[in-house]
Formats: sequence, structure tokens, C-alpha cells
Amino acid sequence: MNSPQDWTPASWRARRALQLPTYSDPAALQDAEQRLSTLPPLVVPAEVAQFTDRLARVARGEAFLLQGGDCAESFDDLEEQAVESTFRVILQMAVVLTYAAACPVVKVGRIAGQFAKPRSAETETIDGVTLPSYRGDIVNASGFTAQDRRADPERMLAAYWRSATTLNLLRALSQGGAADLHEVHGWTADFVRASPQGERFTELADRIAQSLAFMGACGFDAVRAPQLHAVEFYTSHEALHLHYEQALTRFNARDQRWYGGSGHMLWLGERTRGLDDAHVEYLRGVANAIGVKLGPSATADDVLRLLDRLDPERRPGRIVLISRMGSGAVADRLPPLLRAVRGSGHAPVWCCDPMHGNTVTSSNGFKTRDFDRILQELRGFFAAHAQEGTHAGGLHFEMTGQDVTECRGGAQLLTDEGLASRYRSACDPRLNGSQSLELAFEIADVLKADRR
Ligand code: TRP
Ligand code: MN
Repeated sequence: MNSPQDWTPASWRARRALQLPTYSDPAALQDAEQRLSTLPPLVVPAEVAQFTDRLARVARGEAFLLQGGDCAESFDDLEEQAVESTFRVILQMAVVLTYAAACPVVKVGRIAGQFAKPRSAETETIDGVTLPSYRGDIVNASGFTAQDRRADPERMLAAYWRSATTLNLLRALSQGGAADLHEVHGWTADFVRASPQGERFTELADRIAQSLAFMGACGFDAVRAPQLHAVEFYTSHEALHLHYEQALTRFNARDQRWYGGSGHMLWLGERTRGLDDAHVEYLRGVANAIGVKLGPSATADDVLRLLDRLDPERRPGRIVLISRMGSGAVADRLPPLLRAVRGSGHAPVWCCDPMHGNTVTSSNGFKTRDFDRILQELRGFFAAHAQEGTHAGGLHFEMTGQDVTECRGGAQLLTDEGLASRYRSACDPRLNGSQSLELAFEIADVLKADRR
């Protein structure tokens, strides 16, 4: 099976393209695109194929998808620290689910490419000054000067190199021993260790260490079992910046398909999933795993048309539908979509984003999310699947390994006043390390109950 005949990496250019930056110097843009197009892809087709196979297992209900990371990565973050701490939290969550629920976990970061942000307005006005909106580090800078907000095509190359070094670190961490199950005690950050979740995790880590020691005493050679030492870790981002995505698209002669080279999984946002628009046009032609965000306004018809357009071949593991309904809407809005898809012959992964439908402003002006509402949406997601007889396949969430105070509630009982102390996000509020672990324990309990 080939990429569609009437498609090229540039065919999106004939469509309505929302959320793309305006560059003042077309020659500079072309020059940057040309240079990007000669660089090696960041991910290769064989990895995408393996990942798609893992997602097909999730779609069949044999594994759980865990996809997490920053709302937006930033060139200013201390890269090593940000990447390692995020990676460790995802490992911790994965091990909780793998051990407590005996469920294999497919691990995916919103990382090594999550640099472009959709905005609700083209411009931003502060004290009478109007400038273009900040669209993520791949486009412009967040500072409020004309210089900062100018869309600079060189930033696409900066994003590429930054993604390359992040991916290099992730590959080293996942394959080089840091993810070894024998290291499980070392994954807890100091600030998490003393929290209730930290203690619960330490107990679980103790039991894993005991199990490994027991197996060793029985003659099982842990040194020779590669599964214990390494993890598969995949990357994903919103495929928003189509000039960048196109420049990294490569043809694979082996299967006669085109692949996006910027990450294993690319997703379509709630604002850019118009059926005949540029983003859908681009993504239908690349063989990567494709995510689609679905908010409360999505109709069954929208979803079925998108599935037909993006996956006419119905390849298992090709599509991940990411529902972000909000805690109040999930019970009403999700079941009709589940029913429609169930009856359609498509078998996508269903994943819950409990973050984006639950964003509010605190009394003191911070963009925040309540941990309770996040949990409530997640529970509603599981309940809807139980009701419709479909698989609740995964979790898509915004988190950081750093000790931030951006979401309210959780076992730390973070309040509006507490938000001010370490609110670091340039974009959406993220779960911190303890809140992320708390979420993992909650899901493990649900999955365990489902098995019984
Ligand atoms: N390789 C297995 C897996 O990815 C087991 C494993 C090794 C693991 N290190 C891990 C599981 C860290 C979760 C977290 O499932
Ligand atoms: Mn976000």
C-alpha cells in the first residue's frame, strides 16, 4: 500500500492553513526550508512501524498508552534537567501501571519537537501596544518586544537541532541503563520522595526489587534478559508548523510511503482538524501514527469523516483519538462518539486528555487546572468505555518532572495562593511529579478492577 496518489508533501499548500506564522521574508523562509530538507530525519520508518504495532496492541485492549510531557518545550529550559526529569516521571508512571495493573505500557513523550502552539488571537495587546502572538519557540520568542515576536525561519533549524539533542539523550536514557528495572528506586525525585505518592512508590519499588531478587535466586538470569534493562520510548508533538513538517518529510523506497521525520507520532489539534484544511491534508499522506484531539463540539460525523480521510486503509495502530471533553461534558459527549466509531469498522486507540477541557483561571490570575476535575474526567472516560464495551486505551497529559505549582489540589492540596510559589509554565499548567504519580496510581486501580 502506498501513500495516496493525489498527495505530495506540499499538497497542503493549496488548502486553507490555520495557525501558521506569517514570515516577512519569503526568501529567508525558503532558504531555511531548503536547508532543513537536506538534514537527516529524526526518526526512521522502521521505528514508526514498530510503534504502530505497539499501538495496535493498545487498540485491541492488550496494552495502555501513556503520552505525557510539557505543554510546550522551550529553548530556554535547561535541556538535560528537563528531559531527564520528565523521562523519569513517565518511567515511574509506567512502572506503576505495569506492576500494579500487570498491563504493558507504551511510553510516549510530548517531547523532542513540541515547539509550536496554536493561539486564539493573531495579536496580543499590552498597555496599548499590539504585537503578534507568541506561537512557540519554533516561530518567535515569548518576550514582548517587536524583535521577540517577529517570526524567524531560522528558529525552525534551532528546533530541529534542539530536537536532535533531546532525542539523543532520550535514546541514551532508554537504552543505556537508566531505565533498567534494577534502578527503580533512583527514579524518584527528592521533592517527591517524602510525599504520600513518593512513599507509595517506594513500597512498590521495594516489591519490584524483591521480585527481581527472587527470580534471580530461582536461576533466572536477569543480566541476559534485555527486557529488564531498556524501554522503548517514542516521541510525539502537535504537527502544527507545516513548513517544518514538510521539510522533514522523506520517501521510504521499501514500502513506497512518505514518512514525517520529525517524530513517531504527530497529532492534529482541536483547532486544525478541519476536514479539507491544510493540516489534515498533510497528515493523511504520511505513514506515522496520527493523533486527533476531539473536544466537546466534535460530532460523530466529524470523527467518522476524519477516520475515512486519515486512514482509508484502516491500518491497526494508525490513529489515536484523544478526547478532551472537560469533566462536565465527558459523560454526555463521549459515548455517542464511541458508538459511532465502534460501528464503523475503524479500530483506533481511544486516549483521554483530562487536561485541556479543564483549564480555569485562579482567583489570583493564574491559568490552572484542578486535580479533582482531571481525575473526574479520567473516571468519566473509563466509565464511558465500560458502558459502550470499548477499550479505554490511554492517557495524554501535560506534566513536568520539575517541582512546580501549576495545578490545584492533589494530595499536596495546592491552593490558589500556593500556585504563586513555583509557577513556571510559559503555556498551560502542568502536573508536577507527585501529581503525575497520583494519577498513575488512580489509573492502576481502575485497570486492576477492570481485570477482575
Ligand atoms: N522493558 C519493559 C517495558 O518497557 C520492562 C521495563 C524496563 C520497564 N524498564 C522499565 C517498565 C521502566 C516500566 C518502566 O515494559
Ligand atoms: Mn497545552
